[in-house]
Amino acid sequence: MPEPLLDSYNRLHDNLRLSVTDRCNIRCFYCMPESGVEFVPRAEILSFEEIERVARIAVGLGVRKLRVTGGEPLVRKDLHVLIRKLVAMPGVEDVALTTNGVLLADQAEALFDAGLRRLNIHLDTLDRARFEQITRRDDLGRVMAGIDAAQRLGFGPIKINAVAVKGLVEPDIVPLAQFGRERGIEIRYIEFMPLDAQNLWDRSKVLLADDILELLREGVGPLDPVPDPDPRAPALEYRFRDGGGQVGFIASVSRPFCLNCNRIRLTADGKLRYCLFAIDETDVRDLLRGGAADEEIAGVIRATVRAKWLGHEINQGERFVPPPRPMYAIGG
Ligand code: 5AD
Ligand code: SF4
Repeated sequence: MPEPLLDSYNRLHDNLRLSVTDRCNIRCFYCMPESGVEFVPRAEILSFEEIERVARIAVGLGVRKLRVTGGEPLVRKDLHVLIRKLVAMPGVEDVALTTNGVLLADQAEALFDAGLRRLNIHLDTLDRARFEQITRRDDLGRVMAGIDAAQRLGFGPIKINAVAVKGLVEPDIVPLAQFGRERGIEIRYIEFMPLDAQNLWDRSKVLLADDILELLREGVGPLDPVPDPDPRAPALEYRFRDGGGQVGFIASVSRPFCLNCNRIRLTADGKLRYCLFAIDETDVRDLLRGGAADEEIAGVIRATVRAKWLGHEINQGERFVPPPRPMYAIGG
């Protein structure tokens, strides 16, 4: 067995996020500008074969979990072809997909046939007008059809990611939780992070996990924290006391989970990143295209993990420097 991927703080890295495109078919304001987005030219985006190769080398170093992200991964043609390869890769224990759900109804069956089961669907509101306000697209109906199709086919677990922006989504917190309870879907509220393309973020715009918990207690009922079976999972989990399901919080701002972080990321244009908020990244595309041996690429993966910092500094005021790429160009 090769040496495990440990960073200098002894965190074990077994989780690789693969962004397959920086493009997206909607325009969530906390991620993208409304217009004039400059996407990476097609030739600079990794091919499925290149992505697969990096994944295989990382799995050889101990990576066990893969998540496919974007941008919006379903805008990449024939994504199911890549998913099938990743699911079948020896050593891979878990493959998940993060999607905004707009194209899911069309592709759910092909993805299911490819062996995918775990889905995170991004949805902040069940209100059509607010959906349009947030995403600048009138696609709520398509997302709901995507969720229906996925449930009908038997995907699971399905989780919904809802970005929590203060002064905006308070009316959506309880309806989303109720929807999750009815459907057996966990809602994960994600504190708004400074990853938007327009620099709109500041601390006062974050709806904090504690505020959301209060809204849920008032609007749904009592909740109890769930001791996490996986101590390295980033979400804080709470169960409704009446037995009607659970919700999670990705509280990156109020309760950073960097000490447990087990992730590395590959961007669609072939850069390795040790953190969502990293300033530095390492290119692997030139290696892939320049005839580098597997060992060389493995060396770059190891070096990226070794260079990892202790954590982001969102809570260090002036010290925090937002990453040069917004969310869609990194991959969630
Ligand atoms: N803050 C928090 N979460 C975000 N996402 C996108 N932009 C932000 C942001 N600024 C989430 C979306 C998506 C996931 C990949 O990242 O909900 O599901
Ligand atoms: Fe697209 Fe996701 Fe960014 Fe929304 S958050 S614009 S769905 S990439």
